[in-house]
Parts: sequence; C-alpha cells; structure tokens
Amino acid sequence: MGAKPRHRPPAARTRPLVIAIPKGRVLAQAIDLLRRAGYAVGDGIRTSRRLVHDAGPLRLLVLRGQDVPTYVDYGAADVGIAGSDVLDEQGRDLYEPLDLGIGRCRMVVAEAVDAPVVDAAPIHMRVATKYPNLTRRHLQARGITAEIIKLSGSIELAPLLGLAHRIVDLVETGETLRQNGLREVETIADVSARLVVNPARLKLRTDQISELIDRLESTAGVP
Ligand code: PRP
Repeated sequence: MGAKPRHRPPAARTRPLVIAIPKGRVLAQAIDLLRRAGYAVGDGIRTSRRLVHDAGPLRLLVLRGQDVPTYVDYGAADVGIAGSDVLDEQGRDLYEPLDLGIGRCRMVVAEAVDAPVVDAAPIHMRVATKYPNLTRRHLQARGITAEIIKLSGSIELAPLLGLAHRIVDLVETGETLRQNGLREVETIADVSARLVVNPARLKLRTDQISELIDRLESTAGVP
C-alpha cells in the first residue's frame, strides 16, 4: 500500500494592511513618519508613476487627498492618512484614532486687501472654496448669508477676478495669500493629518491595525 499523499493546508498568509496616503505636500511627511515608525518605504514612491507600493506588512496606495476617506469608507483601503479639513468636509463615519501631527496648516477666511467686505454693506456675498460644507456650517454659525461657489484649486484667484468677495481655504506659510494681494479675515480651524480606519476592518484586522497605531503613536510628534 502506497503512502497516503500528505495534504498540507496552504500557509496561513496575512495579506498586507492597505493604507491610503495623500499625494501632494503631505506625501513626503507621511513617508518620513512611516519610515520612522519602522516601515521600509522605498524612495520610488515619490518619483514613480506607480500608485501601489509594498513596504513589508503595508501596501501603500497613493491618492488625491480628497479621495483617501472614500477608499477607507468603502474598504478599498483598510486605513488612511487624511487631512482634518477633508474629514470635516466629508463627514464620513470613520474611526479616527490618531492626530499624526503632520500636514499642519489652518483653514481661513480671506479677502482682497484692496476690496475688503464691509460687514454692514448690503451685498450679495459670494464665497469661493473647495470646502462647501465646512464653509456653509461656518457661515451659518456666524449668521452670515452668502452664496458658496465651489472650486477645485487656485482659490486665491477668485477675489482677484471678482468671482467671489471672500474665500475659505488652507494657509500654511501665508505666501499664496500675500503674493495674490489677499489678507486673512479669520481662522476657522487648525488642520493636521489624521490616521483613519475603516470600522469593520478594525474588527477583522485588529492586530495589524493596533500595531500600526502603536508604532505611529510612539513616532508621531517625535522629530
Ligand atoms: C494650498 C492651499 C493654498 C496654498 C497655501 O494649495 O489651497 O492655495 O496651498 O499654502 P501657503 O500658505 O504656504 O502659500 P495647493 O498648493 O495644495 O494647491 P491648490 O491651489 O490646487 O489647492
């Protein structure tokens, strides 16, 4: 009688944890943070046109910042790094365990230095922004009636061309406002990047996600 074939179950392999990270100015800081947390993120991620990169137990997706919460919400990514500006605007139901302390800037109201809005003047005010929901909430809280004009970028142009009286946008160094003849009227919120987690994945991949949170928590804020 021949020996029975031995059936071995396939090695139990855990797939990488999929993390969505934003391209643009936060990308370099996010890579640096992940490296300091012990993940071997290669240099190619900043130069290559590839949008998926493996780094040991992580699989990184490089996306537009506004799309990170969408990928995490639908479970196309397990976790993500997203700006608090984008999270406030979209209001998705994601677990947000960590302020990563990167991508720091402010959300402000601004207007043209040479065409300030006089609060008492009876104008039909128009406000241009990439953040219509956040802007609407802010204006309502102030009791201001205004038309919100949604744009996708270069918001600072709108007051210069008479498209809007004011803008709501991010300010980091203040250079874009300055070079376009604008001034801050008011700060709405401080902004920074957060780790966000798909709530269902947190239950399914508790160990992997907890390890990521622990590693980032002990690294975030440490220069
Ligand atoms: C962001 C933001 C401001 C600028 C602020 O734009 O919307 O325009 O940076 O930075 P600063 O205060 O350091 O000048 P981004 O460069 O991301 O491009 P966008 O205009 O396409 O939004």
